[in-house]
Amino acid sequence: MGQSQMNQISVIGAGAMGSQIALVCAFSGFQVILQDIEESSLKRAEESLNYQMDRRIKKGKLTEEAVQTAFNRLTYTTSLEEAVESTDFVIEAIVEKVETKQQLFKKLDQLAPPHTILASNSSSIPSSYMAPATNRPKKVCNMHFFNPALVMELVEVVQGEHTSAETAELTVELTKQLNKTPILLKKEINGFVANRLLGKLMNEAIDLLENDIATAEEIDLAATKALNHPIGPFALIDLTGLDVHYHVRMERYYESGDEADKPAAIIKEKVERGELGKKAGKGFYTYSS
Ligand SMILES: NC(=O)c1ccc[n+]([C@@H]2O[C@H](COP(=O)([O-])OP(=O)(O)OC[C@H]3O[C@@H](n4cnc5c(N)ncnc54)[C@H](O)[C@@H]3O)[C@@H](O)[C@H]2O)c1
Repeated sequence: MGQSQMNQISVIGAGAMGSQIALVCAFSGFQVILQDIEESSLKRAEESLNYQMDRRIKKGKLTEEAVQTAFNRLTYTTSLEEAVESTDFVIEAIVEKVETKQQLFKKLDQLAPPHTILASNSSSIPSSYMAPATNRPKKVCNMHFFNPALVMELVEVVQGEHTSAETAELTVELTKQLNKTPILLKKEINGFVANRLLGKLMNEAIDLLENDIATAEEIDLAATKALNHPIGPFALIDLTGLDVHYHVRMERYYESGDEADKPAAIIKEKVERGELGKKAGKGFYTYSS
């Protein structure tokens, strides 16, 4: 399948990432189906996208017509079969758990046409964990967007040993068609590139906080005002979701066996208290609705 023959994209998982990835694809002219097992997630996704697009229209960043055209290309469903039965490309953006992703990839392999590429938006799990659950490992890869996907430009495409050069090439080409900047990694590593860099910064930030050297606000100020980062590490964890951060670190720990890779105590405590960040109204900061 060549890039020009690609018409329909299916995004599986309508959370923070899947909802925005779906709209990014719709803006680039693709027919998009967004699927989630939870009806409530689909409803939240639709409301959130409407809200964000309204704001952009009011600010004059987008026209009402452009937004409506994109929305007309986007449909929502809870049926996986309906979502992928005639799709050309699947982007998986469900919960960051290996077994759940493996089960999904098995079903995707059974339900999607043989030519369809199955890409994972996982923040950390290389696609070689999911590829063996399918009969099409050559068509499985990582396609990692950043949060918020409507805004962030980089996409990491990861070609595992099982991924064919054609799949990697098509995914890179698709990334460009979505007006994003791809980097193609030809070797798998947990966390890929950007999040590995970020992980070191986060570790140090949490260490400084846990040792009472500075508050979360002060550490974020150091990052934004001295290092010129657009957002500090704690505001970023809040945006990403403390639960997502927790799962990412646990997956890395399962892979490495290194205790240092486990999530920090403060993250675990906050996740247990439901302080999951911006989406929960409280994380390291408190948010009004
Ligand atoms: N949050 C981030 O900053 C970020 C950035 C880049 C990549 N990611 C990756 O994107 C993926 C999703 O993260 P998120 O932050 O959007 O999570 P989220 O919790 O906001 O959303 C996950 C969605 O997946 C749905 N889901 C769970 N199991 C499903 C299944 N079997 N089939 C269909 N839907 C299912 C849930 O109902 C939920 O709506 C993860 O793999 C994560 O690592 C997250």
